Amino acid sequence: MANNLLQGKKGIIFGALDDQSIAWKVAERCVEEGAQITLTNAPVAMRFGKIQELGEKLNAEIIPADATSMEDLENLVDKSMEALGGKLDFVLHSIGMSLNVRKNRAYTDLKYDWMQKTFDISAISFHRVMQTLYQKDAMNDYGSILALTYIAAQRTFPDYNEMAESKSLLESFARSFGYHFGIKNKVRVNTISQSPTMTTAGSGIKGFQEFFDYADKMSPLGNAPAEGCADYCVTMFSDLTRSVTMQNLYHDGGFSNMGMSPALIEDKSE
Ligand SMILES: NC(=O)c1ccc[n+]([C@@H]2O[C@H](COP(=O)([O-])OP(=O)(O)OC[C@H]3O[C@@H](n4cnc5c(N)ncnc54)[C@H](O)[C@@H]3O)[C@@H](O)[C@H]2O)c1
Repeated sequence: MANNLLQGKKGIIFGALDDQSIAWKVAERCVEEGAQITLTNAPVAMRFGKIQELGEKLNAEIIPADATSMEDLENLVDKSMEALGGKLDFVLHSIGMSLNVRKNRAYTDLKYDWMQKTFDISAISFHRVMQTLYQKDAMNDYGSILALTYIAAQRTFPDYNEMAESKSLLESFARSFGYHFGIKNKVRVNTISQSPTMTTAGSGIKGFQEFFDYADKMSPLGNAPAEGCADYCVTMFSDLTRSVTMQNLYHDGGFSNMGMSPALIEDKSE
C-alpha cells in the first residue's frame, strides 16, 4: 500500500538490528514510500546483527556510528548527506539499552556508572544526534525528527527499571529541541510512544511475555504492532503532519487512556 508519501525525501534510520527491530520495519516502509535512506547502528551491532541484509535489500548505505560518540555522529551526518546528495528530511532515533536491566540489577540496587551509560545510550544520544544535525545545518526546512519511547516515562512499570527515567529524559529533549529546530527552520521533533513489541530490546525486560499479554488485553485495539508503528512514522515524516511538533504521540491501541479493562477481570474469574 504505497502512496509515494516520502517521494524525493532523504533520511537516516538508526537502530535496525534484525528483522524484529521496529527500525527495520520503518526503513522498509520509508523506502516503499519513495524515500532514499542511510542506515546506521553501533559498530558492535554490525557483527551480530543483520543490518547488511537490510542495506542490500533497500539499496541503502550503512554507516556505523556509536550514538554516544560525537565523532561518529558527525561522520554519519556528513557521509549521509554525501550518499544521499543533499540535506536530510527525516531522522529516526530507535535506540535503547540499559546495562542495569541487562545485568538483572533491581531498581533498588542500581549501579550508577551503568545508569549514566544507559542515559547516554538511550536518551542523551538523541540530543547528540539533534545537536549534530543542527550545527551542521543538515535538515531541510519542514523536516521531521522522531524518537521511539514508552509510557513508563509517565506511569510506573516496575520491571522497566531505569529505562523509565531514560524515556522521560528522551521525551523532554524532544520538547526542548523541538523549540529550537522549529524556530531555526520549521523542523518538527516528536516522540512516538509504542506498545510493548517483541524485539531484542523489548524481550530483555523481565516478565515481558506476561506484560505483553496484559497490555494487549488492556488496549481496546490490542497492542499496536511494529508494522503499524512504521506506518505512523511514515505519516510523521510526510508533509501531512507539518504542524505537529514537540509532542509525545501514543501509538498503543488506546492503552494510555484506559483505567480498567473487563477483559482482564473476565480472565481472572475463569
Ligand atoms: N520493543 C518494545 O516493547 C518497545 C516499546 C516502546 C518503545 N520501544 C523503543 O523502540 C526503540 C527500538 O527498540 P526495538 O524494540 O526495536 O529493539 P532493538 O533491540 O531491535 O533496537 C534497539 C537498537 O539500539 C541499538 N543500540 C544500542 N546501543 C547503541 C549505541 N551505543 N549506538 C547506536 N545504536 C545502539 C541496538 O543495536 C539496536 O539496533 C527503543 O528506543 C525502544 O526503547 C520499544
